[in-house]
Amino acid sequence: MKIINSAREMQLYAEDLRLQGKRISFVPTMGYFHEGHLALMREAKKTGDCLVVSIYVNPTQFGPKEDLAKYPRDFDRDCRMAQSVGVDVIFFPPNEEMYPAGYQTYVNVEKVTLNLCGLSRPGHFRGVTTVCAKLFNIVKPHVAVFGKKDFQQYITIKRMVADLNLDLEIKGLATVREADGLAMSSRNVYLKEEERKSALQLSRSLQLAQKLYAGGEKSSKIIIAAVTELIKSVPYTDIDYVKICDTENLADVENIIGESVIALAVRVGATRLIDNHVFGEYLKF
Ligand code: PAJ
Repeated sequence: MKIINSAREMQLYAEDLRLQGKRISFVPTMGYFHEGHLALMREAKKTGDCLVVSIYVNPTQFGPKEDLAKYPRDFDRDCRMAQSVGVDVIFFPPNEEMYPAGYQTYVNVEKVTLNLCGLSRPGHFRGVTTVCAKLFNIVKPHVAVFGKKDFQQYITIKRMVADLNLDLEIKGLATVREADGLAMSSRNVYLKEEERKSALQLSRSLQLAQKLYAGGEKSSKIIIAAVTELIKSVPYTDIDYVKICDTENLADVENIIGESVIALAVRVGATRLIDNHVFGEYLKF
């Protein structure tokens, strides 16, 4: 497994692969891997000749009061895990490589970033799209794989790629969960034992929402009320939002008619967790 720190070296390496007719698959990450990240890598491995994974905790997507400084990091462990699933190249740039002095260009996807996490994390998606556009230009992938756990991020990246005619395919992979239903996240390590128990209420509430929907309930208001009540029934939870949106432009819907997603963001203790479920899709744990 090759480790590359320089953007220019990564570009030259990628260009060389392309000239050899090789297909490059790519998984962008912020590191501190768990099974969710590994699932994306396994999927990407299937669809390319060379699998590149980036590890970069991107400062422009963190708000001033967010966890940039304490975001969990363990590069050696990440390398061992990446190697175990056959990653060919790790791109691991320092900040000066991504945002050198004088940097001033940003990519902003408009409508789909307004709702949900866009409301409580202003500037977050601008940071995500900017770094992903840069990474796509550096790694030159034919295909990039994203997790649907970050549903709004996945939709936003697809929108950017379509709008800017970026020449790659974006694939989305279903959320990987712990056996008890908790969506895997690098941030789960922040949870204290009792908070970890309360965090289970997120996935349980999605199951409740799916059950109500399957039983014929189509009113967002009724489903949101039931989900909110269930989450509030356990300690340490503080709801940021519970919303039901259409899956294309992420606007709130009153009734579930077309394809819709229920998305939630909940602070459990000091840790903000997100989860979601597309109605009608498989959700069992
Ligand atoms: P990070 O949180 O490290 O996640 C990297 C990728 O793993 C994302 O596509 C995310 O959706 C996916 N992922 C995380 N948890 C998952 C789970 N439980 N199941 C399936 N996929 C999961 O998302 C980012 O980093 C950054 O915003 C990034 C795109 C790298 C830009 O900085």
